[in-house]
Amino acid sequence: EKIYVGVDVGGTAIKVGICNVEGELLHTYEGPTETSKGTDTILHNIAQYARNIVTESPFEWEQVAGVGVGIAGFLDIPNGIVKFSGNLKIENVHLKEYLEKELQVKVLVNNDANVAALGEAWAGAGKGIDNCVCYTLGTGVGGGIIIGGKIVEGFAGMAGELGHIAIVPDLEAIQCGCGKMGCLESVSSATGIIRMAKDAVERGDRTVLSTVEDIMAKDVIDAAKAGDEVASRIVSRAAYYLGKSMALMAVVLNPECFIIGGGVSKAGDFLFDQIREVFQKYTQKEAQEGVKIVAATLGNNAGVVGAAGLILRS
Ligand code: BGC
Ligand code: NA
Ligand code: ZN
Repeated sequence: EKIYVGVDVGGTAIKVGICNVEGELLHTYEGPTETSKGTDTILHNIAQYARNIVTESPFEWEQVAGVGVGIAGFLDIPNGIVKFSGNLKIENVHLKEYLEKELQVKVLVNNDANVAALGEAWAGAGKGIDNCVCYTLGTGVGGGIIIGGKIVEGFAGMAGELGHIAIVPDLEAIQCGCGKMGCLESVSSATGIIRMAKDAVERGDRTVLSTVEDIMAKDVIDAAKAGDEVASRIVSRAAYYLGKSMALMAVVLNPECFIIGGGVSKAGDFLFDQIREVFQKYTQKEAQEGVKIVAATLGNNAGVVGAAGLILRS
């Protein structure tokens, strides 16, 4: 029996999973990324955790059909090179080559949000749906586009970087971690929400957030839910640009559904209803017909399941 190993490399943790040929998750393993220790440590950890999970499981390494990896950043997907990852602080890393040499199995590398989208389309909120656009709202804003059941990668692998759609008007734009101005990520990620909250507190705006020690996105969302005006304005702004970007995607791709995951999506309908309202406002009646905006359902496992799916589907 063949097994499929999926690895989800995040800024703080590397999650690993073993799936069977049906894509069922049989085992999981997690270890620290150790981002601050630099490229060599991160690479070593990815290989080590992939070995560890198989050792821990009842399976043998000989059963591994391949290892799929999802990792944040701009990638050269065909060659498995991480060109630039702001969150992991790495550049031009030949990940596929390194892992194939270390592990002696087939390795496929793809973007973290792309594989999460594949996982959701395959076994989560998009089950049975062939065309969907996924957003992951966390440290960054990730994007994954699934058309005809396949990840849209673009010619070099840069497609689906929805967080870097330049959508905020110049007069209000700030610089994104990618270096450009006005990216969706700068307002709709957890990082963006925290930054807007800190700015408001520094300006002396009247808000309960001024009493919070180390503001997290959840604090801002909770305050907004409780009616704090400043917090509400920040969450509405995050929702506004997400909804607008979806209106854009709707006329370009006409997906059947938008799936939203990541920590910020835990805000639930409070956030989703605002996104839906903006989406409806800016999308033609015909282009929104039958189109749903729903929450991801695989939670933290979307990445590993989708990463294993890269091998399964290849
Ligand atoms: C990166 C993406 C990634 C997303 C979520 C963005 O800043 O550019 O590659 O998918 O964060 O991790
Ligand atoms: Na992506
Ligand atoms: Zn950007």
